[in-house]
Amino acid sequence: MNATFGVNFLLCIGQMARLLNRNFIIGVTGSIAAYKAAELTRELIREGASVRVVMTEGACEFITPLTMQALSGNPVHTGLLDTEAEAAMGHIELARWADSVIVAPASADSIARLVQGRADDLLGACVLATPAPIFVAPAMNQEMWAKAATQENIGVLRERGIEILGPDSGSQACGDIGAGRLLEPTEIVESLIASFSTGDLAGKHVVITAGPTREPLCPVRYISNRSSGKMGYALAEACLNAGARTTLISGPVHCDAAPGVDVVEVETTREMLEASMTATDGADIFIGAAAVVDFKPETVAAQKIKRAGSESMELKLVANPDIIATIATSDTRPNLVVGFAAETNDVSAYARDKLKRKNLDFIFANDVSDKAIGFNSDSNAGTLISANNEIVMAVSSKRVLAETMIAELAKHLSEK
Ligand SMILES: Cc1cc2nc3c(=O)[nH]c(=O)nc-3n(C[C@H](O)[C@H](O)[C@H](O)COP(=O)(O)O)c2cc1C
Repeated sequence: MNATFGVNFLLCIGQMARLLNRNFIIGVTGSIAAYKAAELTRELIREGASVRVVMTEGACEFITPLTMQALSGNPVHTGLLDTEAEAAMGHIELARWADSVIVAPASADSIARLVQGRADDLLGACVLATPAPIFVAPAMNQEMWAKAATQENIGVLRERGIEILGPDSGSQACGDIGAGRLLEPTEIVESLIASFSTGDLAGKHVVITAGPTREPLCPVRYISNRSSGKMGYALAEACLNAGARTTLISGPVHCDAAPGVDVVEVETTREMLEASMTATDGADIFIGAAAVVDFKPETVAAQKIKRAGSESMELKLVANPDIIATIATSDTRPNLVVGFAAETNDVSAYARDKLKRKNLDFIFANDVSDKAIGFNSDSNAGTLISANNEIVMAVSSKRVLAETMIAELAKHLSEK
């Protein structure tokens, strides 16, 4: 059992973990409130999250990296130009690992640096390099907070889509009374959870297929593929967070669906088709993220196939039904039908052809020959293609990618 999993497991017993397996970077900066980052770490882990802490030089004067390491269960990251740290998990990997980045407490100085887009320390570089949503929880003296420079900086960050949490008002460490106190860690966590529930798909029903299918050859062998199901499961969670009723039709995988997702377990392509047809009746969106086996053995042996001295074996395969094309041309076709094109060459061209041929609204094209993304990886990247648009999505965690994709589909559905 790794350290983080152990801490998560123990803290999650007996309560509903609302941030299960969500990866957070907490950026701690040089504020008197830095000690509260320790409590924030505990609260996030209590909700099931994984936390990696990045500390500025200033932050290390207020709270030790050792404390943050013990609480997060992970090594603390402090230096940008540390060759050992870069070899283990460099700033780009950290930035891609994160599902969210929260700078808490954020000093006035760190906020000014974020506005400038500086990358001369690890936190600045991570914030610039991450495709994940960014949250900033300011903490400073009330006079520093009220100054035009700080207020203008906060305005710029907001315009760029960074969510500002707090600050709170009240008595301050310096003896002043006013706005500038760091929000309490529990309030920060509640704000984070609330921000993930977008409501973009409230009242809608989304059906998603995930994972591989399996086609039996005999009672012990089958034909399948390397799909892990992670992308489909991330999409289901994003739909649930967007307020949709979510049905996940899943082949055999080792993923846990977010609580609240209706899971239908299937094995063969035929079973996946039947479950999809039933579920999509009245649904608004169908997303075919499963890697279905296109051809199955013509006959399935009743007994285990024996080697029995033979040096070769012939296998006749016959085509399986095309699930997404069937859904896309059915009488009960959902408003949006979205496919995936996992290709190893000429990705965009194949994807465009598939979009047209199968009567889809969107297709997500990705290159599975790249080991850093695609099938078993936790990251993915690709292009969301429609008849008249292409949206390139940079390498990010599958959760961030799923949330971006679902936001795009929700926008399209509301305009339809
Ligand atoms: C005792 C002490 C407490 C401080 N508390 C804060 C604070 O709460 N907020 C803030 O913006 N700056 C505070 N500062 C100033 C920052 O530490 C200083 O601007 C530093 O450059 C911030 O570094 P960093 O943003 O790289 O972590 C404090 C300084 C001292 C000496």
